[in-house]
Amino acid sequence: MSGHASAPGKAILVGEHAVVYGLPAIAIPLSGMRAKAIAKATDYPLTIIAEDLTRPALTIDVDEIDRSDPIALMASLTMQYLGVADIKGEITIRSDIPIASGLGSGAAVSAALGRAIAQLHGANIPAEELNRLVFEVEKLHHGTPSGIDNTVVAFELPVYFVKGGAVDFIDIGEPLWILLADTGIASLTRAVVADVRALTKRSPTLTSRILDEIGSIVHEARDCILRGATGRLGELLTANHRLLQALKVSSTELDRLVDAALTAGANGAKLSGGGRGGNIIALADEYTVDGVKQSLFEAGAKRVMLTVVPQGSQDDDSD
Ligand code: MEV
Repeated sequence: MSGHASAPGKAILVGEHAVVYGLPAIAIPLSGMRAKAIAKATDYPLTIIAEDLTRPALTIDVDEIDRSDPIALMASLTMQYLGVADIKGEITIRSDIPIASGLGSGAAVSAALGRAIAQLHGANIPAEELNRLVFEVEKLHHGTPSGIDNTVVAFELPVYFVKGGAVDFIDIGEPLWILLADTGIASLTRAVVADVRALTKRSPTLTSRILDEIGSIVHEARDCILRGATGRLGELLTANHRLLQALKVSSTELDRLVDAALTAGANGAKLSGGGRGGNIIALADEYTVDGVKQSLFEAGAKRVMLTVVPQGSQDDDSD
């Protein structure tokens, strides 16, 4: 068997970091930015070539799986799920999702790889199961992940997510015009999450107040998304950014991009993902989008991408 498999990147609209502590967050898939895995049948043991991930080809030796390697671990978990002791074939992974930039690159690579291994075996992995497998690999990437990245990437639908809760897809009242602007600075989510945890220990009262405020923002943001109240949604995004600044996960470059988006007329803007580097999101509309985009480039964005989340019910085609 051979074939193509893929999975999207993701962006968190509101609630990152607080979601690690059991508060809700909202995330959307970035369907235009994907990790792809091309599977080819061979007569030698499963070999995985990860072209853009600056690593050598990996041959999966089923007797000696290195469980500290995310690609090897995903391959092993998928084979276990499929109930096969070994698989022959070659998988080439390519990803256009920048690494360490808060866009779910790790989860997307794992999901695409899992799907491609299943294809080699002539099988399909349901999104629920893929989600569960990718979460195991996310623990290697992020230490104590909430599970939001694997969920939005595996289902490829906007989600309202609470750690440990049932997956809740969110309906979109009006299209969301979202610009993602990249600082070009790599930042490891694992390190930033660890710093926030240290802050919760050092200043528990302050951090729990900040996290609760983020939780209230997410709650209201969900209602705004359902009603199509994009003006108020923008204000909530910006308020969320101010709270992330107070959690010390922003940076001069992220703040500069947020300010540029707001000055150019965006409804709101904030960092997205782990922070310290990576991307900001700006909520624009069809009239402001070009001006905001230009302003983001002028403020130093290395790349700006538009994604429009369509209006409508999201749970029709989940499988
Ligand atoms: C990472 O995309 C979002 C964080 O909230 C970490 C997590 O949820 O695991 C920073």
